[in-house]
Amino acid sequence: MTTTYIHGTSPTEQQRLSRMQALLNAAELAQLELGGVRRLVDFGSGLGQMTRAFARTLGAGARVIGIERDERQLATARVLAEEAGEAALAELRGGDAEAPPLAAEEQASFDLAHARFLLEHVPDPLAVVRAMVAAVRPGGRVVLVDDDHELLRLWPACPPLEEVWRLYWESYRDRGTDPLVGRRLAELLLAAGAEPCRATTIFFGATRGSERFDLVVENLRGVLDGAAAELASSGRVPREQMNDALRALETWRQGAHATIWYSIPLVEGRRR
Ligand SMILES: C[S@@+](CC[C@H](N)C(=O)[O-])C[C@H]1O[C@@H](n2cnc3c(N)ncnc32)[C@H](O)[C@@H]1O
Repeated sequence: MTTTYIHGTSPTEQQRLSRMQALLNAAELAQLELGGVRRLVDFGSGLGQMTRAFARTLGAGARVIGIERDERQLATARVLAEEAGEAALAELRGGDAEAPPLAAEEQASFDLAHARFLLEHVPDPLAVVRAMVAAVRPGGRVVLVDDDHELLRLWPACPPLEEVWRLYWESYRDRGTDPLVGRRLAELLLAAGAEPCRATTIFFGATRGSERFDLVVENLRGVLDGAAAELASSGRVPREQMNDALRALETWRQGAHATIWYSIPLVEGRRR
Protein backbone atom coordinates (compact mmCIF):
# COMPACT_ATOMS: atom_id res chain seq x y z
CA MET A 1 0.00 0.00 0.00
CA THR A 2 1.33 3.45 -0.84
CA THR A 3 0.13 6.72 0.62
CA THR A 4 0.23 10.33 -0.46
CA TYR A 5 2.72 12.43 1.50
CA ILE A 6 0.49 14.79 3.52
CA HIS A 7 2.92 17.73 3.82
CA GLY A 8 3.18 18.14 0.05
CA THR A 9 6.23 19.28 -1.86
CA SER A 10 5.44 22.94 -2.71
CA PRO A 11 8.34 25.43 -2.52
CA THR A 12 6.79 27.19 0.48
CA GLU A 13 6.40 23.91 2.28
CA GLN A 14 9.96 22.93 1.50
CA GLN A 15 11.21 26.29 2.82
CA ARG A 16 9.35 25.74 6.09
CA LEU A 17 10.82 22.26 6.45
CA SER A 18 14.29 23.63 5.72
CA ARG A 19 14.03 26.36 8.38
CA MET A 20 12.88 23.79 10.88
CA GLN A 21 15.84 21.62 9.89
CA ALA A 22 18.45 24.04 11.14
CA LEU A 23 16.97 23.91 14.64
CA LEU A 24 16.16 20.25 14.72
CA ASN A 25 19.39 18.95 13.24
CA ALA A 26 21.51 20.72 15.82
CA ALA A 27 19.25 19.56 18.65
CA GLU A 28 19.27 15.97 17.46
CA LEU A 29 23.00 15.79 16.78
CA ALA A 30 23.56 17.04 20.32
CA GLN A 31 21.60 14.01 21.56
CA LEU A 32 23.48 11.39 19.55
CA GLU A 33 26.90 10.05 20.39
CA LEU A 34 28.30 9.37 16.93
CA GLY A 35 31.89 8.49 17.83
CA GLY A 36 32.83 5.23 16.10
CA VAL A 37 30.06 5.46 13.50
CA ARG A 38 31.58 5.10 10.02
CA ARG A 39 28.63 3.78 8.03
CA LEU A 40 25.21 5.40 8.39
CA VAL A 41 21.98 5.04 6.43
CA ASP A 42 19.17 7.58 6.71
CA PHE A 43 15.73 6.21 5.82
CA GLY A 44 13.20 8.68 4.36
CA SER A 45 15.91 11.30 3.93
CA GLY A 46 13.63 13.95 2.39
CA LEU A 47 15.60 17.02 1.34
CA GLY A 48 18.76 15.45 2.70
CA GLN A 49 19.80 18.18 5.13
CA MET A 50 20.05 15.84 8.10
CA THR A 51 21.76 13.21 5.94
CA ARG A 52 24.43 15.77 5.02
CA ALA A 53 24.64 16.99 8.63
CA PHE A 54 25.41 13.40 9.63
CA ALA A 55 28.10 13.18 6.94
CA ARG A 56 29.69 16.45 8.06
CA THR A 57 29.68 15.25 11.66
CA LEU A 58 31.19 11.85 10.84
CA GLY A 59 33.91 13.45 8.74
CA ALA A 60 36.17 12.21 5.98
CA GLY A 61 36.03 8.56 5.05
CA ALA A 62 32.57 7.92 6.46
CA ARG A 63 29.94 6.36 4.23
CA VAL A 64 26.52 8.02 4.45
CA ILE A 65 23.52 7.03 2.35
CA GLY A 66 20.05 8.61 2.29
CA ILE A 67 17.04 6.70 0.98
CA GLU A 68 14.04 8.65 -0.33
CA ARG A 69 11.00 7.44 -2.25
CA ASP A 70 9.60 10.71 -3.61
CA GLU A 71 11.39 11.66 -6.82
CA ARG A 72 10.74 15.39 -6.43
CA GLN A 73 12.12 15.37 -2.90
CA LEU A 74 15.12 13.46 -4.16
CA ALA A 75 15.71 15.85 -7.06
CA THR A 76 15.49 18.89 -4.76
CA ALA A 77 17.76 17.20 -2.23
CA ARG A 78 20.37 16.72 -4.94
CA VAL A 79 20.10 20.34 -6.04
CA LEU A 80 20.47 21.54 -2.42
CA ALA A 81 23.51 19.31 -1.94
CA GLU A 82 25.00 20.64 -5.17
CA GLU A 83 24.33 24.27 -4.18
CA ALA A 84 25.98 23.68 -0.82
CA GLY A 85 29.04 22.18 -2.54
CA GLU A 86 28.27 18.94 -0.70
CA ALA A 87 27.17 16.66 -3.52
CA ALA A 88 29.95 14.19 -2.71
CA LEU A 89 29.25 14.15 1.03
CA ALA A 90 26.41 11.63 1.05
CA GLU A 91 24.80 9.40 -1.54
CA LEU A 92 21.08 10.06 -2.03
CA ARG A 93 19.31 6.99 -3.41
CA GLY A 94 15.78 6.64 -4.73
CA GLY A 95 13.81 3.80 -3.18
CA ASP A 96 11.28 2.61 -0.68
CA ALA A 97 12.18 2.36 2.99
CA GLU A 98 10.30 -0.93 3.28
CA ALA A 99 12.44 -2.54 0.60
CA PRO A 100 15.52 -0.33 0.67
CA PRO A 101 17.75 -0.15 -2.41
CA LEU A 102 20.73 -1.71 -0.65
CA ALA A 103 23.00 -4.28 -2.32
CA ALA A 104 23.28 -7.69 -0.64
CA GLU A 105 26.75 -6.81 0.68
CA GLU A 106 25.41 -3.57 2.18
CA GLN A 107 22.78 -5.35 4.27
CA ALA A 108 23.86 -5.85 7.89
CA SER A 109 26.82 -3.53 7.25
CA PHE A 110 25.83 -0.17 8.76
CA ASP A 111 26.80 1.06 12.21
CA LEU A 112 23.65 3.16 12.46
CA ALA A 113 20.30 3.38 10.68
CA HIS A 114 18.25 6.52 11.26
CA ALA A 115 14.71 7.60 10.41
CA ARG A 116 13.10 10.88 11.37
CA PHE A 117 9.50 11.84 10.63
CA LEU A 118 9.16 8.80 8.39
CA LEU A 119 7.17 6.26 10.39
CA GLU A 120 4.20 8.62 10.74
CA HIS A 121 3.92 8.62 6.94
CA VAL A 122 4.01 4.90 6.27
CA PRO A 123 1.13 2.45 6.69
CA ASP A 124 3.38 -0.31 8.01
CA PRO A 125 6.02 1.23 10.32
CA LEU A 126 7.10 -2.19 11.56
CA ALA A 127 8.11 -3.22 8.02
CA VAL A 128 10.32 -0.11 7.82
CA VAL A 129 11.89 -0.71 11.23
CA ARG A 130 12.56 -4.34 10.27
CA ALA A 131 14.34 -3.11 7.12
CA MET A 132 16.37 -0.71 9.27
CA VAL A 133 17.37 -3.46 11.70
CA ALA A 134 18.37 -5.67 8.74
CA ALA A 135 20.58 -2.87 7.41
CA VAL A 136 22.73 -2.59 10.55
CA ARG A 137 25.38 -5.03 11.69
CA PRO A 138 24.74 -7.13 14.83
CA GLY A 139 25.14 -4.67 17.71
CA GLY A 140 24.50 -1.78 15.33
CA ARG A 141 22.22 1.10 16.29
CA VAL A 142 18.76 1.99 15.04
CA VAL A 143 17.62 5.52 15.88
CA LEU A 144 13.95 6.43 15.42
CA VAL A 145 12.65 9.98 15.77
CA ASP A 146 8.97 10.51 15.16
CA ASP A 147 5.99 12.57 16.20
CA ASP A 148 3.42 11.91 18.85
CA HIS A 149 1.07 14.71 17.85
CA GLU A 150 -0.75 14.59 21.17
CA LEU A 151 2.32 16.09 22.84
CA LEU A 152 1.46 19.60 21.66
CA ARG A 153 0.42 21.93 24.49
CA LEU A 154 -0.23 25.65 24.14
CA TRP A 155 -0.38 27.83 27.21
CA PRO A 156 -2.49 29.86 27.60
CA ALA A 157 -4.85 27.46 25.87
CA CYS A 158 -6.03 28.34 22.37
CA PRO A 159 -9.12 26.13 21.86
CA PRO A 160 -9.88 26.88 18.17
CA LEU A 161 -6.29 26.05 17.23
CA GLU A 162 -6.16 22.99 19.46
CA GLU A 163 -9.36 21.60 17.93
CA VAL A 164 -8.04 21.99 14.38
CA TRP A 165 -4.70 20.48 15.41
CA ARG A 166 -6.54 17.39 16.68
CA LEU A 167 -8.58 17.14 13.48
CA TYR A 168 -5.36 17.54 11.48
CA TRP A 169 -3.52 14.69 13.15
CA GLU A 170 -6.59 12.49 13.24
CA SER A 171 -6.67 12.82 9.44
CA TYR A 172 -3.49 10.73 9.32
CA ARG A 173 -5.75 7.77 10.06
CA ASP A 174 -7.62 8.37 6.77
CA ARG A 175 -4.46 7.34 4.96
CA GLY A 176 -3.77 4.44 7.28
CA THR A 177 -0.86 6.03 9.11
CA ASP A 178 -0.35 6.58 12.85
CA PRO A 179 -0.09 10.19 14.08
CA LEU A 180 0.90 8.95 17.55
CA VAL A 181 3.62 6.57 16.37
CA GLY A 182 6.22 8.41 18.45
CA ARG A 183 5.00 6.70 21.63
CA ARG A 184 5.40 3.28 19.99
CA LEU A 185 9.04 3.54 18.93
CA ALA A 186 10.46 1.18 21.57
CA GLU A 187 7.68 -1.32 20.89
CA LEU A 188 8.48 -1.25 17.17
CA LEU A 189 12.20 -1.73 17.77
CA LEU A 190 11.59 -4.72 20.00
CA ALA A 191 9.19 -6.30 17.50
CA ALA A 192 11.74 -5.76 14.72
CA GLY A 193 14.57 -7.54 16.51
CA ALA A 194 16.39 -4.72 18.29
CA GLU A 195 16.80 -4.04 22.02
CA PRO A 196 15.52 -0.56 22.90
CA CYS A 197 18.22 1.04 25.05
CA ARG A 198 17.42 4.77 25.24
CA ALA A 199 14.38 7.01 25.08
CA THR A 200 14.43 10.79 25.11
CA THR A 201 12.82 13.71 23.31
CA ILE A 202 13.93 16.61 21.16
CA PHE A 203 12.36 19.77 22.48
CA PHE A 204 10.72 21.85 19.77
CA GLY A 205 8.79 24.44 21.70
CA ALA A 206 9.38 28.07 22.62
CA THR A 207 8.10 30.89 24.77
CA ARG A 208 7.36 34.40 23.55
CA GLY A 209 10.47 36.48 23.93
CA SER A 210 12.75 33.61 23.00
CA GLU A 211 14.57 33.90 19.70
CA ARG A 212 12.91 30.92 18.09
CA PHE A 213 9.33 31.64 19.13
CA ASP A 214 8.35 33.04 15.72
CA LEU A 215 9.83 30.08 13.88
CA VAL A 216 8.02 27.58 16.07
CA VAL A 217 4.71 29.44 15.66
CA GLU A 218 5.27 29.76 11.91
CA ASN A 219 6.01 26.07 11.74
CA LEU A 220 2.73 25.25 13.44
CA ARG A 221 0.91 27.61 11.10
CA GLY A 222 2.76 26.15 8.10
CA VAL A 223 1.85 22.57 8.99
CA LEU A 224 -1.84 23.48 9.19
CA ASP A 225 -1.76 25.79 6.16
CA GLY A 226 -0.07 23.08 4.11
CA ALA A 227 -2.77 20.56 4.99
CA ALA A 228 -5.71 23.02 4.75
CA ALA A 229 -6.80 22.19 1.21
CA GLU A 230 -6.81 18.47 1.82
CA LEU A 231 -8.56 18.84 5.19
CA ALA A 232 -11.25 20.96 3.53
CA SER A 233 -11.78 18.61 0.60
CA SER A 234 -12.04 15.60 2.91
CA GLY A 235 -14.65 17.50 4.94
CA ARG A 236 -12.62 17.18 8.15
CA VAL A 237 -11.92 20.90 8.58
CA PRO A 238 -14.02 23.43 6.64
CA ARG A 239 -11.98 26.39 5.34
CA GLU A 240 -13.77 28.78 7.66
CA GLN A 241 -12.87 26.73 10.72
CA MET A 242 -9.23 26.60 9.60
CA ASN A 243 -9.17 30.38 9.01
CA ASP A 244 -10.70 31.00 12.45
CA ALA A 245 -8.09 28.76 14.06
CA LEU A 246 -5.20 30.50 12.29
CA ARG A 247 -6.61 33.91 13.29
CA ALA A 248 -6.87 32.69 16.88
CA LEU A 249 -3.20 31.65 16.70
CA GLU A 250 -2.26 35.14 15.51
CA THR A 251 -4.03 36.68 18.52
CA TRP A 252 -2.64 34.04 20.87
CA ARG A 253 0.98 34.66 19.83
CA GLN A 254 0.74 38.29 21.06
CA GLY A 255 0.21 37.07 24.63
CA ALA A 256 3.06 38.08 26.94
CA HIS A 257 3.67 34.52 28.18
CA ALA A 258 2.44 32.55 25.18
CA THR A 259 4.32 29.24 25.19
CA ILE A 260 4.31 26.21 22.90
CA TRP A 261 5.37 22.92 24.44
CA TYR A 262 6.27 20.29 21.90
CA SER A 263 8.63 17.37 22.14
CA ILE A 264 9.59 14.82 19.53
CA PRO A 265 10.23 11.29 20.79
CA LEU A 266 13.63 9.73 20.02
CA VAL A 267 14.26 6.07 20.79
CA GLU A 268 17.39 4.11 20.08
CA GLY A 269 17.84 0.35 19.92
CA ARG A 270 20.63 -2.11 19.18
CA ARG A 271 20.36 -5.04 16.81
CA ARG A 272 20.58 -8.34 18.67
C1 LIG B 1 8.75 14.70 6.85
S1 LIG B 1 9.92 14.14 5.68
C2 LIG B 1 11.30 13.92 6.72
C3 LIG B 1 12.59 14.00 5.98
C4 LIG B 1 13.83 13.81 6.84
N1 LIG B 1 13.88 12.51 7.44
C5 LIG B 1 13.93 14.86 7.89
O1 LIG B 1 13.78 14.58 9.07
O2 LIG B 1 14.15 16.00 7.53
C6 LIG B 1 9.44 12.44 5.33
C7 LIG B 1 10.09 11.91 4.07
O3 LIG B 1 9.85 10.51 3.98
C8 LIG B 1 9.59 10.20 2.63
N2 LIG B 1 8.89 8.91 2.57
C9 LIG B 1 7.61 8.66 2.90
N3 LIG B 1 7.35 7.34 2.74
C10 LIG B 1 8.51 6.77 2.31
C11 LIG B 1 8.89 5.44 2.00
N4 LIG B 1 8.01 4.43 2.09
N5 LIG B 1 10.15 5.19 1.61
C12 LIG B 1 11.06 6.22 1.53
N6 LIG B 1 10.75 7.49 1.81
C13 LIG B 1 9.50 7.77 2.21
C14 LIG B 1 8.78 11.37 2.14
O4 LIG B 1 8.78 11.45 0.73
C15 LIG B 1 9.50 12.52 2.80
O5 LIG B 1 10.53 13.02 2.00
